[in-house]
Amino acid sequence: MKSRKRLAGFLFACTVALLPATALALSPQTRPVSASLAAHPPGAAIASGHHLATDAGLQVLAEGGNAFDAAVAVSSTLSVVEPISSGLGGGGLFLLHDARSGKDVMLDAREYAPESATPEQFLDKKGELDRDRSMNGPWSAGIPGLPAALVELAGKYGRLPLRQSLAPAIRIAREGFPVYARMAKGYASRREIMDRYPGTREVYLRNGKPIAEGDIFRQPELAHTLELLAAEGFDGFYRGETARKLIKGVNQAGGRWTARELAAYQVKQRTPISLDYRGWKVTTAPPPSSGGIALAEMLQILEPWNLQELDEAHRIHLVTEAMRRAYRDRTFFLGDPDFVEIPQKVLTSRDYAQGLRATIHPDKATPSDLLSGKPTPLEDDETTHFSIIDAEGNRVGGTQTVNLLYGSGLIPPGTGVLLNDEMDDFALKPGTPNAFGVMGYEANAPKPGKRMLSSMTPTFMESPDKVVVLGTPGGSRIITMVLLGVLGYDAGLSAQQVAALPRYHHQWLPDAISAESGAFSPEVAKTLEAMGHEVDLPGDEAAGGRGSSHVWGNLQTVAWDRASDVLSAGSDPRNPVGGAKVVIAADPPKP
Ligand code: GLY
Repeated sequence: MKSRKRLAGFLFACTVALLPATALALSPQTRPVSASLAAHPPGAAIASGHHLATDAGLQVLAEGGNAFDAAVAVSSTLSVVEPISSGLGGGGLFLLHDARSGKDVMLDAREYAPESATPEQFLDKKGELDRDRSMNGPWSAGIPGLPAALVELAGKYGRLPLRQSLAPAIRIAREGFPVYARMAKGYASRREIMDRYPGTREVYLRNGKPIAEGDIFRQPELAHTLELLAAEGFDGFYRGETARKLIKGVNQAGGRWTARELAAYQVKQRTPISLDYRGWKVTTAPPPSSGGIALAEMLQILEPWNLQELDEAHRIHLVTEAMRRAYRDRTFFLGDPDFVEIPQKVLTSRDYAQGLRATIHPDKATPSDLLSGKPTPLEDDETTHFSIIDAEGNRVGGTQTVNLLYGSGLIPPGTGVLLNDEMDDFALKPGTPNAFGVMGYEANAPKPGKRMLSSMTPTFMESPDKVVVLGTPGGSRIITMVLLGVLGYDAGLSAQQVAALPRYHHQWLPDAISAESGAFSPEVAKTLEAMGHEVDLPGDEAAGGRGSSHVWGNLQTVAWDRASDVLSAGSDPRNPVGGAKVVIAADPPKP
């Protein structure tokens, strides 16, 4: 109720404060349809953040599995080879399309707050937010959801037994894989935290020597944990030996987990958000992700404008204004839908988008201060994504995470399971900036059993002649990267071009466009500044800007063009170990 009132007030304030954008060309909203369309893909395509995970998925497909079995193989292998980004100790959101029923569903395997994790637990003696507790070690970890998602994917949607689709991950955990630069660099930056815990030291300092690029990294304890999961399913992780070790390790490190809360973990089936954008059906992540609602708002604000016909500065201006408005709403209205009332219908409606569009000036930036409210969370850059389509037309977009680099840094001894630090995604102290300099509010306040707000945005796009799966890691920038990806596909780019697109981002506050190198030229930046935008280009940090001397994201996407019957896969060139592969089926399924 409160949020509806706030929403109405916000709309009124915007409408009276700003001029309508009447001078912009509107565009047709339909796409041409080809005469003959393939009924199913000619093979399969997988794109993921590590080539070994992509190969694991292809192996399982070759053994007779479908996209859901492949998702188990890719997800579990990423958990082994990308501990920096995701793992069994974390969670994820998995968007599924079942070709036979035509149905889409999102598996919500987000972590939830343990019973002990009340807001007071995250305050120090002075009542300030204890950042060490929220980001590192036992109190930062939510109850993991990823293992339950693997069981659900295999049991409800896959064709192969779990032990078969987990086999590649178990083998790689036991035999090892070469440490890559990002993994070694991330370890160096988190080592101080990771060295606190004996279980973590055992894995990352095997002979007293820290992991280095090129070393073969073996995780026999993780292989054993995966074997228990393969043999016993849900109980193999959430009850019995692994559960006992997890609880003992967390509690010895000073946390408070119980057997009951582990055994009570449940994957939730959520109805995805679905909208039409210029002839595409876009299917995307509902709460507890903020991604789908924000993406729906942005696309519906932008829909009537023919972005391709605008000059670059005006195109970036309008996209930025859509980002600004959607991120403002993200801050106030979104949280775990099982705990807070979210005005989802309103936020994703065309009428609401039209109201927001009317507040956008064609040539002038809206100062974020004019949009009532306070700053929005900027999350970390970690997490990982994979996209899969199989020869039957089944699809999976999976985004999974342990939050910060190497999550909480805590591995309960004997498990090989690096726990997440997802509790930091909650607004732990309303009105106090978190580690990323931002505030949070009631909708995303922590409560026992509640899932923390996410930005993960696995997304499908379908036009009459094209099918796309896309997603990326990148904290709060995930949503704008997916937006640019959707706009890229709409503009006719290929999967690889979409993965490579230079990125820019605006999240309401701080009130600035941050851009990767190459996102736009200095001349375009000047035009944007003349419109009233603050633009942080790479290198601007020295002058106090947020800038982006680094690149961000790791977008993984697959596409099937039904008119030409061509499958393609795109892996973000920013990540040298990623893997995008297409295999053509020798014996495709009959329509
Ligand atoms: N921890 C990153 C996210 O879920 O958005």
